[in-house]
Amino acid sequence: MPPSSRKATTLADLWGLIAPIFRRHALRVALGLVTLIAVDVLQLIIPKFVQKAIDALAAGTATPHFLSRIALALVLIAASMAALRFVWRTMLIGFSRILERTLRNQLFAHLVRMDQPFFERRTTGDLMAHASNDLPVIQMAFGMGVVAVVDILVLSLTALGFMVTIDLKLTLIVLLPMPVLVVCTRKLAAMLHRRVNVVQEQFSGMTEFARATLSAIRLIKACTLERFQARHFERLGLDYVAGNLAVARVQGLLAPASTLVGSAGLLLLLYFGGCFVIEGRVSIGAFVAFISYLSTLIWPMMAVGWVANLAQRGLTSLRRLHRILAEQPCVETGPCRVLPPSRKLVCSLRSLDFSYPGSSEPALRDFNLELGPGLTGLTGRTGAGKSTLCKLILRLYPLPPGMLFFQGEEATGLTQASIRNQIAWAGQESFLFAGSIADNIALGKPEASLAEIRAAARLAAIDEEIMAFQGGYGATIGERGIKLSGGQKQRLALARALLCQRPMLLIDDGLSAVDVATEQAILDNLQAQDCTVLLISHRINVLCRCQRVVILEEGAISACGTHEALLSHPFYKTMLEKQKRHA
Ligand SMILES: Nc1ncnc2c1ncn2[C@@H]1O[C@H](COP(=O)(O)OP(=O)(O)OP(=O)(O)O)[C@@H](O)[C@H]1O
Ligand SMILES: [Mg+2]
Repeated sequence: MPPSSRKATTLADLWGLIAPIFRRHALRVALGLVTLIAVDVLQLIIPKFVQKAIDALAAGTATPHFLSRIALALVLIAASMAALRFVWRTMLIGFSRILERTLRNQLFAHLVRMDQPFFERRTTGDLMAHASNDLPVIQMAFGMGVVAVVDILVLSLTALGFMVTIDLKLTLIVLLPMPVLVVCTRKLAAMLHRRVNVVQEQFSGMTEFARATLSAIRLIKACTLERFQARHFERLGLDYVAGNLAVARVQGLLAPASTLVGSAGLLLLLYFGGCFVIEGRVSIGAFVAFISYLSTLIWPMMAVGWVANLAQRGLTSLRRLHRILAEQPCVETGPCRVLPPSRKLVCSLRSLDFSYPGSSEPALRDFNLELGPGLTGLTGRTGAGKSTLCKLILRLYPLPPGMLFFQGEEATGLTQASIRNQIAWAGQESFLFAGSIADNIALGKPEASLAEIRAAARLAAIDEEIMAFQGGYGATIGERGIKLSGGQKQRLALARALLCQRPMLLIDDGLSAVDVATEQAILDNLQAQDCTVLLISHRINVLCRCQRVVILEEGAISACGTHEALLSHPFYKTMLEKQKRHA
């Protein structure tokens, strides 16, 4: 779903996102809520027992037996509260973690399913922010947020109920400062949230700066930027400390605010409650119970402001997450057939026109070509559209029907996976990860044996070099293959593509960093493969080995023929002369 067709997210949409998770864990949530409510009620019963004991002591009716029964009841209540508290924490906080994990898995599975245009609309940082910022907020809202709501409802309402039964007038008097606490917490929570956000951004800015510096360390050294980078990092560190201090200042205000309001309530209670005790309107026991209820009320009152803020943030995060999850892949939109596996693959491009999303300039124009078994060379100036053609054959971008066919079948009616399963691709930028050489080659076929991996490496003319490394195929190659030369990286990527043994092979400039002797050895191997090969190259040495060569100019085919037939083509001729001069 492109941004233009985005419709507003309703609360029903958001509920639709989390309802299945709630339903799956309904029993856990119900048990958590019941035990939480039980703890709240038990907490409020304690002052009642204390009230009874004090009143009996004041009236002189208390006996040791009576007091020991009250003490036993208090111990039993405390023990039950401890056990129940353990249950609700495990159930409710556990559920919030399950919710977070399920949404994180859903988000990840969705992201890896999305097409190329989606990733061009969004930055990696933006997508990562959902996992690092939004999911924890949602977890907090459905964990401690729900607990706080229950506490607000049960604790405050029951405490107020008990207080009213003792004395309505006294209740109203001691509650006077409470609205101040609600307003203060609401304001402080909003301020805290803003400052925590700033700190999070500062932290990710600092880590991103360190990551970028370390990954480009060779460039940094070549430009003698070490001191400049270190000074910049120091400045980022100072900002981060200042941000954390700003957070600490707000956090520091929260506790005094509650103590101040609690003390104001206590002051009113001591004066007016004390007068009521003197008047005999309220018993000493009820007076003491009142003190307990008042302190019980502090947390729910603070929670009102905190929860309002948390709910707002939780909804915003859920909305952002829903917007991502609602986007649909645009390449495979309807039900599709599976392209049957075959030993030889024919790919036809008919009157193909293509512009990148958001671009008005076509990258390929009126493109007609049939790719069948054998080597087809593709050349053209930089930016002519060669890599674009590979991406379209791989179905990375959506195309209208009638332009791309596999075995004569319309590509839009075939599943992406069944098409990609028949194509091996060695891209222009070889992607390597920090791991062993064997793992890097076996990326497309993790179950491959070492013998298969070596066979593919031999075809890519890199086996001998790998065996010469300390550790051979088990040698690690560092982040992005930092320990390898440009030509070695290219041949490793080629071996990876060859290992998959697919009927079609796309090699995008995959031999540009390889010496001539190695290049010719690889071409011999490719020729013996008997599969459909599209070989993109700027080198005449490579192109002259292909059955035919296609010349691309500004997205359109300007000529197609054998090496000999193209010798008179202006672009081909110039390229040949230049390369002869430099040979
Ligand atoms: N993701 C993209 N979004 C928008 N335009 C793009 C994108 N990728 C490539 N282009 C544009 O499409 C055109 C063709 O690019 P392409 O990468 O296919 O060129 P190429 O022939 O492979 O060049 P080179 O020989 O340098 O690899 C260029 O003008 C390029 O700027
Ligand atoms: Mg290219």
